Amino acid sequence: FIPPATGGAGGGTTAKDELGNDVSVAKFLENRNAGDRNLVQGLKGDPTYIVVDSKEAIKDYGINAICTHLGCVVPWNVAENKFKCPCHGSQYDETGKVIRGPAPLSLPLAHTTVNDDKIVLTPWTETDFRTGDAAWWA
Ligand code: FES
Repeated sequence: FIPPATGGAGGGTTAKDELGNDVSVAKFLENRNAGDRNLVQGLKGDPTYIVVDSKEAIKDYGINAICTHLGCVVPWNVAENKFKCPCHGSQYDETGKVIRGPAPLSLPLAHTTVNDDKIVLTPWTETDFRTGDAAWWA
C-alpha cells in the first residue's frame, strides 16, 4: 500500500515552512551557505533538515530531526559539525549517522528533489548510505 501523495502532481510531499506554506527553494537558498542545515516540515509533517549543497542547490537527501532515543528535535551544531540532542546528549554526525548514544539508531533519511521551485520529499526506502544497512525506518 502506498499512501496517496500530497502537494504535487509528481508525487511526494512538498516541504512546508513553519507557517505551513510551501518552501520556495530559491528563497530558501537566498541567504544560506553550503553546509547549512535548516528545518522544514517534511514527510508526515516531521521536522526535517534540508542540507545546502551550494548557493544553487540542496543535497538530494533530507535528515529527519526527531531523535531516535525519545523523540526530541535535534538541533544542528554548526561549531561542532554535528547534531546534538539537548535531551540526553545523543550525537549524530553531519549526515545524521548516530555517533553517540543513548540514541540507538541514525536519523531517518528522505529523498529531496526540486520541482517547480518547490522542495519535494519522498520516502527513503533504499539502503542507508551512511551505514550500508537497510533503512530501519522504511
Ligand atoms: Fe535525544 Fe534522548 S531524546 S538523547
